[in-house]
Amino acid sequence: MTRELRFYADSANVEEISGLLADGLVHGVTTNPTILERGRRSVRDIPELYARWEAEGAREIFFQAWGDSAKTMIGNAERLAALGSRVVVKVPATRDGFTAAAALVSAGATVLVTAVYAQAQALAAATIGVRYIAPYLGRLNDAGREGVAEISAMQSLVQGSGTDVLAASLRTPDDIVSLAEVGVPFFTAAPAVILAALYSEVSDRSAEDFEAAVARGLQD
Ligand code: E4P
Repeated sequence: MTRELRFYADSANVEEISGLLADGLVHGVTTNPTILERGRRSVRDIPELYARWEAEGAREIFFQAWGDSAKTMIGNAERLAALGSRVVVKVPATRDGFTAAAALVSAGATVLVTAVYAQAQALAAATIGVRYIAPYLGRLNDAGREGVAEISAMQSLVQGSGTDVLAASLRTPDDIVSLAEVGVPFFTAAPAVILAALYSEVSDRSAEDFEAAVARGLQD
């Protein structure tokens, strides 16, 4: 059985994302209100960002619903989902977020439950039928927890349920590799981390050697 693996850009930096999409290096773009703020954007920019990333070839574009009640969150999520078929609506793993997630799944939206920090939350999200859960590796580790082991357990819990782990808070290529080794299929990280995953000094030296050989051959 083949196993699909994907990288996503966790960013609202449109220049960096354009490059990754144009080069075919990421499946899509993930955002949340914090990421929008870091990119000097706000929820007001979401329709423009959706149109831009859709035109640039992103296959999935994630925006997070906001609001201090499930009802508000659902209303905002419905407006996000109406932007187009490539929208995945994120909701936080809170009491209101789970209510919103269940309603949105029933209405046919593609949903990701984000900021998942507990095994039971991962399981609950899968029982609702969300497409993705996003546990945060770096923040789990920051809290003194065994991030890879905990996300590995979440992966086992949801395996085969139709809910997949899309891991976030990945700060190094090794973070991604450690989770891939325990079966996690999907990863979202800042563009710099994605680019770092492509890099080895030895590969660059090998490429220089190849080019030098070509040049020598052309001198004959
Ligand atoms: C994703 O949704 C998170 O905001 C992001 O991955 C957090 O990363 P950080 O913990 O490195 O800030």
